[in-house]
Amino acid sequence: MQQKFSDLKKTFDAALADLKDGVDLEEIKNKFLGRKGYLATLMKEMADLADDERKAIGRLANETKMAMEEGFARAEAARKTNQILEGEWLDVSEPVFPADEHGHLHPVTRVQEELEDLFTSMGFMIADGPELESDFFNFTALNIPPTHPARDMQDTLYIKNHPDQVMRTQTSPVQVRAMRKYGAPLRLVVPGRCFRNESTDARHEHTFYQLEGLVVDKGINFAHMKASLEKVAKHLFGEEAEMRLRPKFYPFVEPGVRGEVTCFLCHGKGCRVCKNSGWLEVLGAGLVHPNVLREGGVDPNEYQGFAFGFGLSRLAMLKYNIDDARLMQGGDVRFLQQF
Ligand code: DAH
Repeated sequence: MQQKFSDLKKTFDAALADLKDGVDLEEIKNKFLGRKGYLATLMKEMADLADDERKAIGRLANETKMAMEEGFARAEAARKTNQILEGEWLDVSEPVFPADEHGHLHPVTRVQEELEDLFTSMGFMIADGPELESDFFNFTALNIPPTHPARDMQDTLYIKNHPDQVMRTQTSPVQVRAMRKYGAPLRLVVPGRCFRNESTDARHEHTFYQLEGLVVDKGINFAHMKASLEKVAKHLFGEEAEMRLRPKFYPFVEPGVRGEVTCFLCHGKGCRVCKNSGWLEVLGAGLVHPNVLREGGVDPNEYQGFAFGFGLSRLAMLKYNIDDARLMQGGDVRFLQQF
């Protein structure tokens, strides 16, 4: 009898020691300690024993029972702890980055998001267009026919063996795409990457960002355009910033202007950055040419519009006081970490 109890205890301890993750603890408890379990069955055998023997074995039976219950409680607690630890699992082999080192947005992206917030607050939608653009949308649809000398204003990257494809030189092609897609009235901005075959210098890069805008509605005039652009200038450069518009030819608007803001550095007094003029050119704009409206499927007798194109990279350079355009796409972290 004694032997049987000690064997039972051993088997039970072994079962607990060998617990696999999937094994149900309750099942083990029932098997050993349940009403019809091994221990109960063994205890029933005690009925056949002589009185004095039963007393001695009875004590042993009780001790065995308590020990097994204790062993079971310990196993249960261990499993719970394991589950908690698994939940808080930590890969100690993972490389650790210094806590004060975070990635952040590129200065151009910051200015872009700032302008997107402003324009959406004024009811503009944000649209997108392809960077590999057709010659038609990039030029022809914008009132620049194939033979027009205005094509020379932009040194274009053409695609080999695809004479009708260009890397878009401006975000303006999305004007006509959007009018065709959404019709009038319309209010949208288009941030995007543009490309030109520039020999690069501090002010020019072959890859840069623009933010195009287009408003088409009934009775749109020059004053709407001027007020909107001034709002943008003040939003970006502070309430004291002024915007002035001077005539400039763009084939897709009539009249066309270039927009300049008071120099952020000298506040209009004249300095090295603004070449002593006190003003910095940041955009082109104008009232949408009737031919462009027609290309977009909009009747110029019914609707008018204004359009503008900000140099996003230029704005970022002004805002963050960056003096070389080539740094923007250079990918040098020593430059990027400064912002
Ligand atoms: N796309 C012109 C450029 O890249 C900028 C521009 C001028 C956009 C006048 C416009 C506009 O929408 O109306 O130089």
